[in-house]
Amino acid sequence: MTISFEGQVAIVTGAGNGLGRSHALALAQRGAKVVVNDLGGTRDGSGASSEAAEEVVRLIQENGGEAFAHGANVAKFDEVSEMVDQAMSRWGRVDILINNAGILRDKTFAKMDLSDFQLVMDVHVMGTVNCTKAVWEIMRQQNYGRIVVTTSSSGMYGNFGQSNYGAAKMAVLGLMNTLVLEGAKNDIRVNALAPTAGTRMTEDLLPPEMFGLLTTESVTAGALTLCHKDAPSRMILCAGAGGYASTRLFETDGIFLPEDQQTPEKVLAHWDDICDTQHQTALESGAKQTEKFLTKAMSFVQSNS
Ligand code: NAI
Repeated sequence: MTISFEGQVAIVTGAGNGLGRSHALALAQRGAKVVVNDLGGTRDGSGASSEAAEEVVRLIQENGGEAFAHGANVAKFDEVSEMVDQAMSRWGRVDILINNAGILRDKTFAKMDLSDFQLVMDVHVMGTVNCTKAVWEIMRQQNYGRIVVTTSSSGMYGNFGQSNYGAAKMAVLGLMNTLVLEGAKNDIRVNALAPTAGTRMTEDLLPPEMFGLLTTESVTAGALTLCHKDAPSRMILCAGAGGYASTRLFETDGIFLPEDQQTPEKVLAHWDDICDTQHQTALESGAKQTEKFLTKAMSFVQSNS
């Protein structure tokens, strides 16, 4: 099966550099018209320049594709809205949104100013929310949409010095989980990409010999599987150096304790059973967890009445 984006319109945020650039080029190469968004600041989010995004547009156009650059700061809803309006007036639809823009402000939590925490949350979380909000109604009206959020192993598993970034990267998964449910009836599918790539974001964190293996193209191959016509929904795809894996959140079956045993000592006494992964499942929604607990409690009540 060949994956084609012919006739589709895609917005890729933070597409002037690194992964976003690679996603934008690949989407265009496979037929999509692309909005190349980039604020053009430095890695820590300061400054702005249109140069990098314009260069990506030039490359796309050289290859016969269609694209325009837009310097919207994803953390500002009015700028994002203006960008989406431009895409709509040029091309009349938005099929794909890849929320990729990101910055780093690493410090241990003890040394981190709250302003550095806030800015990282603004770009990654509110940036993703703003862009998604700006296309959501369009996708609902079209009965079609593919949205990718960009998470990170730092959020899913933690990383020293990245409490702000980790919190933000986990937050976008929370957003995805609910959008998956709310978007389903209009064929809006939402997935997450957890990349590892050699970019300016990671250049001083990775040894040079590894940098060459961690190509952006290897990650983009995964990203495209999350936003094509037959894409899944709620997938967390991890991709790096040609490796592809999936992360899922599972919950153990757990135990039930009747009222007279609901003490911390009894909970602790059942720790191994609570943590027993043998019958773990990935729940479809928060309500399914309540249902699971109530089913156990009700059956106890019934068997004792
Ligand atoms: P990068 O620094 O090369 O590219 C990020 C781009 O986002 C830059 O061009 C920057 O100008 C743009 N940007 C930043 N703030 C923006 C804003 N407010 N509005 C619009 N554009 C903005 O970084 P890289 O590595 O390509 O990262 C892309 C995404 O992948 C980020 O969300 C990052 O957190 C995520 N990621 C990257 C990993 C890696 O190994 N490179 C690991 C895990 C996640």
